[in-house]
Amino acid sequence: MSTKQIAIDGPAGAGKSTIARMVADRLGFIYIDTGAMYRAAALYLLRGNIDPADERASAAAVAGADIRLVNENGNQKILLNGEDVTGQIRTQEVGAAASLSSRYRAVREKLTGLQREIAEKENVVMDGRDIGTTVLPDAQLKIYLTADASVRAKRRYDQLAAKGTAGLSPDEIEAEIRARDRQDMERKNSPLRKAEDAVLVDSSDLSIDEVCAAILKEYQKVCR
Ligand code: DC
Repeated sequence: MSTKQIAIDGPAGAGKSTIARMVADRLGFIYIDTGAMYRAAALYLLRGNIDPADERASAAAVAGADIRLVNENGNQKILLNGEDVTGQIRTQEVGAAASLSSRYRAVREKLTGLQREIAEKENVVMDGRDIGTTVLPDAQLKIYLTADASVRAKRRYDQLAAKGTAGLSPDEIEAEIRARDRQDMERKNSPLRKAEDAVLVDSSDLSIDEVCAAILKEYQKVCR
């Protein structure tokens, strides 16, 4: 492996994308949001009226979708069949559908292949659910970033409310987050779990800057 790889996994709303982006900026690496890829696949299913809980239909449809992450002037965009869907994938509906369709092996294999291709060419900070366990098992640094479900729900609510797209109450979001945790952790294919060699970071009582500093410190240790 000639590239540098940092894997950040954890449950929904733990702050993975904010932190991963910051760490990538600080190190001059590319940030790869693998959840955005699963969300784009789910959006494709929803648009085609395909049930994301139907394995055969989901696998067949996603096989034909062109999903790409591109970096433009430091901003990451997700393209679905050439269309920029970066904004459209950030809804509860798409997230819930992504949690369903990401259970399927064929869907995972397609997106995992794309993720590895990027990491072979660029130094990356990649976040998701299975990066340390499956996608990049040889990453120099693996972080398992988590926080209490109530803290994650509050953060997710504030994020959605700031964009005017909350739709649900904080309690409803917490219930949704707990259901998503269960689904992501209990699935058969690449369930969310801490890799044995991952460093556990609980961000419940930490600021974004503190989490970022903790991860950079861990990276210094392994990259001496
Ligand atoms: O991180 P997120 O909320 O954008 O992810 C949406 C869903 O995609 C998540 O519930 C599970 C799935 N996912 C996955 O299975 N593996 C990944 N590496 C990233 C996301």
